[in-house]
Amino acid sequence: MKKYIYFDYAATTPVDERVIRSMTPFLNEKFGNPSSMHFFGSDAKKALEKSRVIIAKSINANPDEIIFTSSATESNNMALKGIAFNKRKGHILVSSIEHDCVLNAAKWLSKNGFEVDFLPVDKNGIVSPKEVEKRIKKNTILVSVMHVNNEIGTIQPIEAIGKICKKNNIYFHSDAAQSFGKIPIDISNVDLLTISSQKIYGPKGAAALFIKNGVKIEPLLHGGGQEKGLRSSTENVPAIVGFAKAAEIAISTMEKEKERLTKLRDKIIETLTKEIPNCYLNGHPVKRIYNNVNVRFSFVEGEAILFMLNSYGIAVSTASACSSPKLEPSHVLSAMGLKQEEAHGSIRISLGRWTKESEVNYLLKVLPEVVKKLREISPYK
Ligand SMILES: Cc1ncc(COP(=O)(O)O)c(C=O)c1O
Repeated sequence: MKKYIYFDYAATTPVDERVIRSMTPFLNEKFGNPSSMHFFGSDAKKALEKSRVIIAKSINANPDEIIFTSSATESNNMALKGIAFNKRKGHILVSSIEHDCVLNAAKWLSKNGFEVDFLPVDKNGIVSPKEVEKRIKKNTILVSVMHVNNEIGTIQPIEAIGKICKKNNIYFHSDAAQSFGKIPIDISNVDLLTISSQKIYGPKGAAALFIKNGVKIEPLLHGGGQEKGLRSSTENVPAIVGFAKAAEIAISTMEKEKERLTKLRDKIIETLTKEIPNCYLNGHPVKRIYNNVNVRFSFVEGEAILFMLNSYGIAVSTASACSSPKLEPSHVLSAMGLKQEEAHGSIRISLGRWTKESEVNYLLKVLPEVVKKLREISPYK
């Protein structure tokens, strides 16, 4: 029987069975609307508030600083547009390697009366706090730099950037969709933080925005006034309960997972870069999340590797924006200074809770053969 192996945990994760069990009662017998006054409603409300306490605790926040949303995309849009609409004008700084939902929200704001600048990154994909300081203007209202990059896994110096923002009285937002539940997050200098369920073995349809007490934002959704009036709409209780359960499991197993996956990640990086000629690591060698490998191979296309691995039952992703019909190279790899052909020859291998050493070994057997075969027919070599 053909094996199917998943190496795309950075895209999304399967839902943990324990999470599914925690959610099930809220899909049927405890189906109530948390805003309803009767006992069906109060059961749902209790579960919602318990989940808020768990999520808040997982980042050392207060429960009233957690606003539940439907996705990291929504949380990020809420942070950028919410602050911008509240301030009405001003300058916003975002890193050039943000997820599209931050970049496109910032670009939209720039077309609607706000000044927006994009922070450069170094060759390893790291934003320098000094660059942030240099680019801050008198009218800067918000800086947004992600905690861990989704393509190359680099960990950004958000504590240092947050300190600079605090010193200059500027709000600091960080998208922690890729780091939450994997590495500790220090929110002492962060005003707004995006976290998500679907990256930590929770269901899709749940995420949150931490908004530090005192930070004022305008809501994007107007309606019944749920979530302190900041995010109207009936809360997705089953998904939020699952999100909280997933966070509890992720936080309590974080250290062990880090140890186990670091070894597997390093084995992949060492083997590929040693055994395959002209294979290089993208992103920082040390300051990177332990489940991310992003490598490039000269003379081959990442998409070709992806499709051939797929035929062997191995799922990886390309770093280039293959979702774009224009097949433009990844904005992250381009920002790091990679040439178009280098960016196009890159793939992302991301590991997770059910990655086994035997699967890594299979990948390490198949991938060199795939690259060799593709190079034999490559017009670029
Ligand atoms: C860093 C980061 N931010 C935001 C998102 C968007 O998440 P979603 O599609 O769940 O809204 C992702 C998803 O890959 C991500 O990795």
